[in-house]
Amino acid sequence: MRIAVVGSGYVGLVTGACFADLGHEVVLVDNDEQKLTALRNGAVPIHERFLRELLGRHRGQHIKFSGDLQAATRESEAVFIAVGTPPTETGDADLSYVESVAREISGAVDGYKVVVEKSTVPVYTSQWIRTVILRNGANPAAFDVASNPEFLREGTAVTDFLYPDRIVVGVESERCAEVLRAIYEPLTSGAYYGRADAIPRPDRATVPPRLIITSTKSAELIKHASNAFLAMKISFINAVASICESVGANVGQVCDGIGTDSRIGPRFLNPGIGYGGSCFPKDLMAFRAVAKENGYDFRLLDEVIRINEEQRHRFLRKVRAVLWTLRGKRLGVLGLAFKGGTDDIRESPALLLVEELLREHCQVCAYDPAAMEHAKEVLKSGVEFAKDAYEAATGADALLILTEWEEFACLDLDRLRKLLKYPMVLDGRNLYDPATMVEHGFSYYSVGRPAAVLEGATEVQSKKRERA
Ligand code: UDX
Ligand code: UDX
Repeated sequence: MRIAVVGSGYVGLVTGACFADLGHEVVLVDNDEQKLTALRNGAVPIHERFLRELLGRHRGQHIKFSGDLQAATRESEAVFIAVGTPPTETGDADLSYVESVAREISGAVDGYKVVVEKSTVPVYTSQWIRTVILRNGANPAAFDVASNPEFLREGTAVTDFLYPDRIVVGVESERCAEVLRAIYEPLTSGAYYGRADAIPRPDRATVPPRLIITSTKSAELIKHASNAFLAMKISFINAVASICESVGANVGQVCDGIGTDSRIGPRFLNPGIGYGGSCFPKDLMAFRAVAKENGYDFRLLDEVIRINEEQRHRFLRKVRAVLWTLRGKRLGVLGLAFKGGTDDIRESPALLLVEELLREHCQVCAYDPAAMEHAKEVLKSGVEFAKDAYEAATGADALLILTEWEEFACLDLDRLRKLLKYPMVLDGRNLYDPATMVEHGFSYYSVGRPAAVLEGATEVQSKKRERA
């Protein structure tokens, strides 16, 4: 199929590259000429595993980059809208980019077209897209609007696209459904997975994925409800972690106990400093807003958001409780991205915590495997940036782990202890076992588990041992 994808951000770029790998002819459209030039020259502007490989395979053959949306629409059978839907001040989704794209598409509907909303949008958006295209003169029989929400997680977006748990398609006509069935046929038939050059299958993949055909409104709600449920699960376990701290229980063991219930499942039960990213925070506000507009006061989401904010403040209080005064203290910080595996710092709890520590006049030396360039744009001069975790820890009064990068979970602990001024680790992502940390001479503080503190005397001794 010939497909146009509008918006070459995290979603659009992955969607275009994966469609090309399925064998479709893709035009990736963007209104940012600099981005297009960089993409044509082989740049890969986002940190996503396998994306470089897919773009390398198809750039110039099955995927091209263009700033001309009307031309791209004319030569395509389907146009996927994957432009940003950022939150407005009131928390609604800003759909002005979606509208401007829909308006521009309407001038190029010169044969049956399927316009597909890929960006996360509130329910009813597909109706608005149809209205805008009609108002701008398109023939009502010459197009359909569909909803095809993505469930990509940053850091695993390519495998999430090619090995989805399910593909959700919201349509209002059989003709439209046929086009989307054809687009995803390489996945739903399983043909893609038999190819020698298929992207490697992740452990938990269900192959082939189910194709769920529903109405546009249901598809739009599936996306918001999925994200809201996942965020709720995270806030739920963070609230339980706080109760564990109050009573001296261990949230890791509690997670084991509840996660083994197949109705709950172990995933998305990792307590920490809260969720961030360009989706959960914005999608919860948008879902709450659209529910309210339609007469439902979704107060449960208020509480999910409140718990999430509170998680960060609790962690800062923990840092104060351990270090006493903060002014002038040197803190090693591991992690600036909103999660491990990505360079994205949008709504990153790690970054928000670093900004709070700077306001307390701490000296911060931070390391992140992928997000430091983006972080420098935000943090300006306030933070030193290290070349690795060990440099970040050198001479620090304490080490803070704020993003769940895999490499932060397997540090050389003896080397780390020698580099720290005091052997104290505050882990916002529970990457280590407290007993292991004490064995290696650290006082270790984490989320929802008792502090593992070296006896005062041994703490001093361990410093003497180092000096010896
Ligand atoms: C976006 C939404 O933010 C997210 O909610 C949705 O799930 C998927 O699309 P993302 O890909 O991260 O996520 O968006 P962003 O990184 O902001 O990229 C959007 C791209 O669209 C940018 O490259 C921008 O230049 C481009 N764009 C934006 C257009 O081409 N035309 C426009 O009118 C507006
Ligand atoms: C999320 C959804 O998972 C994805 O389906 C949707 O398409 C986009 O939004 P993403 O935001 O990229 O994906 O990352 P995700 O892995 O969901 O993590 C979101 C945030 O929750 C991160 O800040 C992460 O650190 C945090 N998180 C995740 C937890 O704190 N605990 C968990 O158990 C899981």
